[in-house]
Amino acid sequence: MRTFSVTAKGSAEKCRIVCRARALSQLKEAVGGRSAIVFTDENVLRLYGRAIRRALPDVPVYAMRAGENFKNPQTLFDLLQKMAEAGLKRNSVLVALGGGVVGDIGGLAASLYMRGIACIQMPTTLLAQVDSSVGGKTAVDFCGVKNLVGAFHQPELVLVDPAFLRTLPPREIRCGLGEIVKHGAFDGEIFDRLAAQEDLFDLKFLAGIVPENIAYKLSVVRRDPHETGLRKCLNLGHTTGHALELAGANLSHGECVLVGVLYEARMARTHLDCDGEYLGRLEALCRRALSCDPASFDVAAGANAALLDKKNTAAGRVVMTVPVRRGEYAMLELPFAEYERELARVRRELC
Ligand SMILES: NC(=O)c1ccc[n+]([C@@H]2O[C@H](COP(=O)([O-])OP(=O)(O)OC[C@H]3O[C@@H](n4cnc5c(N)ncnc54)[C@H](O)[C@@H]3O)[C@@H](O)[C@H]2O)c1
Ligand SMILES: [Zn+2]
Repeated sequence: MRTFSVTAKGSAEKCRIVCRARALSQLKEAVGGRSAIVFTDENVLRLYGRAIRRALPDVPVYAMRAGENFKNPQTLFDLLQKMAEAGLKRNSVLVALGGGVVGDIGGLAASLYMRGIACIQMPTTLLAQVDSSVGGKTAVDFCGVKNLVGAFHQPELVLVDPAFLRTLPPREIRCGLGEIVKHGAFDGEIFDRLAAQEDLFDLKFLAGIVPENIAYKLSVVRRDPHETGLRKCLNLGHTTGHALELAGANLSHGECVLVGVLYEARMARTHLDCDGEYLGRLEALCRRALSCDPASFDVAAGANAALLDKKNTAAGRVVMTVPVRRGEYAMLELPFAEYERELARVRRELC
């Protein structure tokens, strides 16, 4: 078992993160005597419904349809309605049991209901365990833009159990690897462990590396809870990654992040003073984790989608967080036409 306790800088909100086996058995104690709702998705309910009901027999459960397509205001308001119907009060708690989609919507609903109730996150995907459940960012997609509407709301507790990873399809493992590789780009120890590991999909290896990734993300979030500076490094691979997601590249979020890191590392090499040998190793790691063809997407659609990115500060320019050398990142800003040319160039190189 490993426990982290976090109070983000400038915030009174405390969050405890506990990595342990049989975490569901801890839920009853964590909820205590408060009224509650469990929010999950239909896939997770199918797999863990009985275990949830055993852990919290009297608590209503609401399951959304699974997937990013349903990470929208409609699902958010359906959940808020279930919370109202369940008679939740100011001192109630929402348990978000699922992947990053459930965690993001559940966290946002908890932040909105009665101007904020407690939230317990139980992440069941690798991505949610190493990334989305940590740091208090919540959101839904809106008007075709990912995570356009959201809030910062720290969960009071995050319960991380590696046993959930056993039922994850390989593609979802790969999705989490996207964020793990991103952390590895900045944390030398994570990078070395990934580079030395032959089978990146080995569950024992992954269970071991999850707490290290949580610790890394926390070290960033603690210093910059509202992404005014340092936390921007966690956007590595995400400008191009989100653009590909929006352009319908038919890849999961983590796969898009891996492709994004690959492209943005190549762009960094041509525009900035970089350690080429290190970036080469990072690119090799991305390609090892990916199974798809990193060149199969529409360049014009990808470039147009990148223009919508929330990180952009001026019209017609695309801003990226890019790796430059071990443990170091830089911001790279390109005019739209140049970004589109760069996407096309790297795509040709990778064909
Ligand atoms: N808040 C943040 O800081 C942050 C950070 C990174 C990503 N995100 C968000 O996270 C989302 C992606 O999260 P995700 O990859 O977990 O997607 P997801 O929540 O859609 O889960 C992926 C799939 O796995 C299924 N699933 C979940 N747990 C399972 C289990 N134990 N066994 C079998 N199947 C299971 C789900 O039903 C779903 O079909 C994106 O919307 C992204 O924007 C948020
Ligand atoms: Zn991500």
